[in-house]
This record gives sequence, C-alpha cells and structure tokens, in this order.
Amino acid sequence: EEEAMQVCHTIEELRAARAQLPAPVGFVPTMGYLHAGHLELVRRSLLENAATVVSIFVNPIQFDRKDDLDAYPRDVPRDLRLLEEAGVDLVFVPDVEVMYPEGFATTVHISGITEVLEGAHRPGHFDGVATVVSKLFNIVQPDRAYFGQKDAQQVVVVKRLVADLNFPIEIRTVPTVREHDGLALSSRNVRLSPEGRAIAPKLYQALHAAEEAWLRGERRAEVLRGIVEERLAEEPAIRVEYVSLAHPEQLHELSGEIEAGLLSLAAWIDNVRLIDNVPLPPV
Ligand code: PAJ
Repeated sequence: EEEAMQVCHTIEELRAARAQLPAPVGFVPTMGYLHAGHLELVRRSLLENAATVVSIFVNPIQFDRKDDLDAYPRDVPRDLRLLEEAGVDLVFVPDVEVMYPEGFATTVHISGITEVLEGAHRPGHFDGVATVVSKLFNIVQPDRAYFGQKDAQQVVVVKRLVADLNFPIEIRTVPTVREHDGLALSSRNVRLSPEGRAIAPKLYQALHAAEEAWLRGERRAEVLRGIVEERLAEEPAIRVEYVSLAHPEQLHELSGEIEAGLLSLAAWIDNVRLIDNVPLPPV
C-alpha cells in the first residue's frame, strides 16, 4: 500500500521526513504552477529513485523585475493534488521567511557562464538560482536532482555549482516538453493573449528549421544563427532579445565551422518574455 504524500513547510519538518525516506532520493525543485514539463521531471525521478521530493517555492531573489515576480502564477492546492496523484513522497513548500529569514546575507555567485545569455539580460538571476538551489540541496540532501533542458543555461550553471562546491548529487537533464504545435511548456504561457499564443510556436519553428539544417550537414555558425533570425523577423509581433549559438558548456558565442552547440533565444510576445532552445549535438 502507498503511503500518503507528506507536505512540509519548515526546514525542521522536512529534515525529519527526509530522514525516513529510502535511498536513492530524487529531487525536483520547482516554482509551482505545475504543468506537464514539471511532471515529466517528477515522472523521471519516480522511475529512477526509491523516493521523490519536490519543492514549490517562488524564489524572490532570482526575479530581476518586480512585475514578473508579482505576476508569477501560483496555485499550491492544485500543485499538491497533481503531485499526490503522481505518487510523490514528500513536498517542501516553504514561505519566503523560512528560506530568507531576517539577517540572511549569503549569495552564491558563479562567474563567466552566468554573464552571457539569460544572465546578460536578467542581472542577478543566476545568483538567485545558485543561492536557492544550494540551500535546497543542503536541506533536502538528495542523491539525484532533475532539471529541464527548457532552461538550458540553468542546467549548465547548476552542474558547475555542484562540481565546484562538491555537492554529492547527480544532476539529470530532462528534454523539453512541448505543446503539439511546438511551443515549449512554461508557467508564463498562461499570460499570453490568444493572438500571442497563436504566434508563439514560431519561436520553436525557427529553432527547428536551424536544427534541420544542422542534421542535413550545415556546420557554419553564422548560417545556423541566421536561419533562426530570419524566421523570427517574419513575425512583427515577436520582439527578439537574443538569438545565440553558443558552446554547450562554456556558453561563449561560436563562429565559423562548429562541431556542436546550443542554439537558444529569448523573445517578447505581448509583454511576456519567452525562452527556448535546441541542442545541436555532435554527429
Ligand atoms: P521552474 O520554472 O518552476 O521550473 C522547474 C523545473 O522544470 C526546471 O528544471 C525547468 O527547466 C523545468 N521545466 C520547465 N518547463 C519545462 C518544459 N517545458 N520541459 C521540461 N522541463 C521544464 O527553474 C525553476 O523553476 C527555478 O529556477 C528553480 C530551479 C526551481 C530554482 O528556483
């Protein structure tokens, strides 16, 4: 018989419940408002571990804009129902005061790889991510943690963090889950107008066109990046922030003939900032 899912709001409760779990423990950190992308991470963790812990915490220090934090969608009761149905063992739902009590003064900063792409456009974002992920790893102490390819730079940053600070945790990456029309699932998609939602698949279509060129043998970085830029330029309601073809681990922009890369973009539709990417793997 399955045991009921436990929900903890304090670090003490969480540590006590965590201590009772069988090994190995898988962990899925989230900011809630769960969709099929999050649930795919949960499914992977349930398959690959004896127990699964999920956290739901809208981390204020990783938001560079207050309006984005205020508008971030939340529905914890619904999230808990979905996690219970999925068969999750333990959920950690701390308040902001639990994670950042009066006097909190530490920041985890990763240099270099956090200064490009998302980091260049969202100052302080990855300091906020690295700090909260470090705290969650120390609180939950999982054997494995699951992150989505949707946030490709976050995966690179978290892997760097785990290697540099010697967290005894294996990071596993889960492919991006998409709508039938290709739009990457995101908690922010609900903020799109019907018109915005209709053009949003163009982001993935542009990336996919370059991915197909890659698979047909195109190796010139400028040409691959150009395919994405040209496709996006066809849609005036898309305001492009960046199109990047970067080294898959160092994240610097590539030029000339390449052997592998990460093709990624950020764009605004309807005042909603969307990101997407496709890895161009070595062949
Ligand atoms: P959040 O945006 O809630 O995402 C939680 C996890 O779900 C991340 O690893 C993210 O990459 C993954 N995810 C989101 N959409 C996905 C999709 N369409 N397909 C596959 N995976 C997807 O990322 C965060 O929260 C935060 O930065 C966090 C790591 C929790 C730290 O606060």
